[in-house]
Amino acid sequence: MPAMEAYLADWAHLILRWLHLIAGAAWIGASFYFNWLNNNVRPPEDGRKGIEGEVWSVHGGAFYQAVKHGYSVGKLPKSLHWFYWEAYTTWLSGVGLLAVVYWLNAKAWMAGPLGPGPTVAIGVGALGVGWIVYDLLCKSPLAKHPRAFGVTLYALLVVAAYALFQWLPSRAAYIHMGGVIGTIMVANVFFVIIPSQRSMVNAAVRAERGEPPLPVTGPTGKDGALRSLHNNYFTLPILFVMVSNHFPFTYGNTYGWLALAAIGAVGVIIRHIFNLKGKGLPYTGWIPVAVAAGIAIIVAMAPKKVEGPSVAWADAAPIVSARCTPCHATAPTLWPVAPNGFILETEAQATAAAAKIKTQVETQVMPLGNLSKMTDDERATLVAWAAGASTAP
Ligand code: HEC
Repeated sequence: MPAMEAYLADWAHLILRWLHLIAGAAWIGASFYFNWLNNNVRPPEDGRKGIEGEVWSVHGGAFYQAVKHGYSVGKLPKSLHWFYWEAYTTWLSGVGLLAVVYWLNAKAWMAGPLGPGPTVAIGVGALGVGWIVYDLLCKSPLAKHPRAFGVTLYALLVVAAYALFQWLPSRAAYIHMGGVIGTIMVANVFFVIIPSQRSMVNAAVRAERGEPPLPVTGPTGKDGALRSLHNNYFTLPILFVMVSNHFPFTYGNTYGWLALAAIGAVGVIIRHIFNLKGKGLPYTGWIPVAVAAGIAIIVAMAPKKVEGPSVAWADAAPIVSARCTPCHATAPTLWPVAPNGFILETEAQATAAAAKIKTQVETQVMPLGNLSKMTDDERATLVAWAAGASTAP
């Protein structure tokens, strides 16, 4: 019963997406909070010694005082809270979503020029390669020069986005870039941040017992702090990727990889502004940079006017019924139910959605995976009709 299978697949999709959002909110929330703490701790006002700093806050009907101890904590308390499940859950549910939405429906969503199988392999491979390259970069001499490191990392990510754009459909390319960044972030937690914290705890326990410190073999607390800072800069770009899937004009742009690079950079700048502000360093100079970059992106991405004679509905209608209604119909043949309840059976329905149709068809996002085999001529005709219909008074 394919309809029942589709229904259950929808549930799996919904539950994974819900979980992904919940865990992601918890993870990024914790990342924001701890970076905020780190940036905002100040020497205690009462001149107390032996701590790195403290911060007072008021929230939800109480005052809170957080104290930062750094590496020499003295005696550790009985219960110490760790933060990792939110990271692992976010990643696992994210990979689950990639599988349910993209990899298992590769014909529709991974219809790249190499065919669905190799396209999925490239998508999966990118997640691992991204981490390996990033980790090597972190261990290279370049890591000692934060600015050069940042520029190199950014350039490598742009190259990755460009490469994925050559092989994956644009929407899949975006979400897989999200996967690449998310994998780097979670691997930072798993391979560096948590082990570094383990060694910090071990060192504290040994110090408490009066035992001499063991030579450090794995990642140090400093490594953990640095990777944690990298993760902090990744948060806004990755969140943009997550919401971008609702905006075909971003990923569907001919230069979608460049749009991603530019918008991601603005996210990094905004994060930087907040980090500088928290530390009490000058940050206002960055605000015009972020605003100017944002405006430049909006102007550069403005849709081009479609030139040529206007196309009548009579010429567009057969294209819509051949290439769109196999899915967008009350009783579709290529899809279990009309996707998003979006139906294109009448002129009125098409006209009402002309602007959306223009974006989706122009950017080659629709027909999905070109499963209905639309030709380039048909695409041009339908876009011309939609351009006219969406600007008609
Ligand atoms: C193989 C099936 C398939 C075909 C053929 C197809 N679509 Fe879609 N379409 C989808 C799916 C699936 C979605 C939902 C995507 C998502 O989850 O955002 C969608 C979404 C859309 C949307 C966004 C609707 C909304 O409000 O969210 C538009 C517009 C659209 N399609 C237009 C078209 C047009 C125009 C054609 C024909 C040129 C077409 N589609 C052909 C599967 C198809």
